[in-house]
Amino acid sequence: MSNTQQRQHARPAPAAIASEHTPLKARKVAFAWEGTPLHWIPGDPFATHTINVLHLLLPAGERWFVHVYKQVLPLIRDDRLREDVMGFIGQEAVHSQAHDDVLPHLREQGLDPTPYTAQVDWFFEKLLGDRTLPPGKPRAWWLKERVALIAAIEHYTAFLGDWVLNAEELDRRGADPMMLDLLRWHGAEEVEHRSVAFDLFLHVDGSYRRRVRTWAAAFSALVFLWQRGARFFMENDPSLTDGKASFGQFYRAGSRGVLPSTPAMLRSIPRYLSRTYHPSQEGSTAQAVAYLANSPGANGLADGRNGGR
Ligand SMILES: [Fe+2]
Ligand SMILES: [Fe+2]
Repeated sequence: MSNTQQRQHARPAPAAIASEHTPLKARKVAFAWEGTPLHWIPGDPFATHTINVLHLLLPAGERWFVHVYKQVLPLIRDDRLREDVMGFIGQEAVHSQAHDDVLPHLREQGLDPTPYTAQVDWFFEKLLGDRTLPPGKPRAWWLKERVALIAAIEHYTAFLGDWVLNAEELDRRGADPMMLDLLRWHGAEEVEHRSVAFDLFLHVDGSYRRRVRTWAAAFSALVFLWQRGARFFMENDPSLTDGKASFGQFYRAGSRGVLPSTPAMLRSIPRYLSRTYHPSQEGSTAQAVAYLANSPGANGLADGRNGGR
């Protein structure tokens, strides 16, 4: 064995927890928005709108996941992984549509997000879309790069999913149950399928350098798009005279428990960059599956304001 082979052999590798694996299926969901107030976290427009940014990013973002994964499917040489990816595609397609369905309600409340969503569409469809690349290595490189970007983004969707499943402060503050159920159904499915994108990345490439590079790109893009989205909502909210969004507000909302805390977000960075990281080490499949079994929206109970709350 050469020195290089010995070094590679000795490197710690991602360690999956097998018991966290679960078969994936898309659920038929139903939500109704007529009764959801503009500030669905009462008295907290900033936290409301920071979470609302999800409705702007996810429709285009998750459509893009599906678009990229359909191109990867023929390259998968493992039957269980192929099934996982197909389940993932089904779930993300429903997520994208469910968040898109909130937008008409925002428009009715005087918040037309079209100027912002046009930028998000450009970002995913053009900047991260299929480029006119020659077949062979350049196309394969761009596909691997996007698979790695999705794995990095899914680290954060799983982080947010785990956060919202446990964000009891939102219940204590009287957050709208319909919106909470949408977020927790989606969050639970993110926790449920949290290993798929990373397993696919390991299957098609798994290079550590690519993991680090694409994490940096994904994290920077998420921070940039998110703060822009929060500012957009705060500045265009018809009920606010001088709506602003700042990092200080974000930090304080995180300390109150109505948004993820900044320290928790910072701690999640070295975890993803650890050579032994595997998403199955984070969050709880049992908690996610238990939520999904009782989620009114995931069981088609949108009428009667989410199962007669
Ligand atoms: Fe999703
Ligand atoms: Fe996801």
